[in-house]
Amino acid sequence: MFKKLTLSALTALTLGATSAMAAGGAGHVEDFQFSFEGPFGKFDQHQLQRGLQVYTEVCASCHGLQYVPLRTLGDPGGPEFTEDEVRAYSEQNFETWDPELADGDGDFRPAKPADFFPANTGAGAPDLSLMAKARAGFHGPYGTGMNQLFKGMGGAEYIASLLTGYTGEEKEEAGVTLYANTAFPGGWISMAPPLYGEDVEYADGHSNSLHHEAEDIAAFLMWTAEPKMMARQQAGFTAVLFLTVLSVLLYLTNKRLWKPIKYGRKD
Ligand code: HEC
Repeated sequence: MFKKLTLSALTALTLGATSAMAAGGAGHVEDFQFSFEGPFGKFDQHQLQRGLQVYTEVCASCHGLQYVPLRTLGDPGGPEFTEDEVRAYSEQNFETWDPELADGDGDFRPAKPADFFPANTGAGAPDLSLMAKARAGFHGPYGTGMNQLFKGMGGAEYIASLLTGYTGEEKEEAGVTLYANTAFPGGWISMAPPLYGEDVEYADGHSNSLHHEAEDIAAFLMWTAEPKMMARQQAGFTAVLFLTVLSVLLYLTNKRLWKPIKYGRKD
């Protein structure tokens, strides 16, 4: 009975997934190997630092990260900068509007760790803070999440595929240039290819090929979207362990309680 049920559930899911793909016109997403995949996955601190560098030097000119506090760059499980590094990074790269300055007229001042990354709407580009989560069920609105469940594929894979998915073809539509992209749903995106490889120089000497840069920024954006992923996984693991022990104890208690009845003893 159970076997039959499982089988029919599986068939339904597979059929659903294939028909959804046919209907959605969704882009093609590659499976990248990220360090944070799987139940024991962890963010790679160095990769997050490299991704931050790509964001700062390339993406920040169009995209904001307005929901991410700068101080979290120092949090455990993140890029783990020291306090001084966070302060220096904030001051050197961003300015914040402070309404108290200039006798209440307001003025810009260098950003502090207490500020957020700035917003940036100038180029009509979406904010990237939560993009990796927003696109996690990315196989169109019909997404079943099967790839995410079985291959650990989520928003980070989508972003990396998007950045490496340009074919080089362009077209103009109503005065807007569109670029062919194999990962973008619909196939044409208005973002010009932001990365070509060798766009940044990594201090740690890591390869700056297009593939690696895309992977690093995708990992960084996964962290901005879900900075507590590791803590959540750990809590889940502890809960499962606890429930397993509890089940064993309850089973043994149950056995013991029913023993006199089962073996017909009247005492
Ligand atoms: C020249 C400006 C510009 C730069 C630089 C830029 N982008 Fe974009 N980006 C855009 C625009 C405009 C859109 C909206 C595209 C659309 O919806 O057609 C966009 C959209 C996106 C999207 C959303 C795609 C979706 O599924 O809707 C992601 C993810 C993205 N950019 C990531 C990046 C990353 C990562 C970088 C840095 C490596 C970057 N962008 C650099 C302009 C830019």
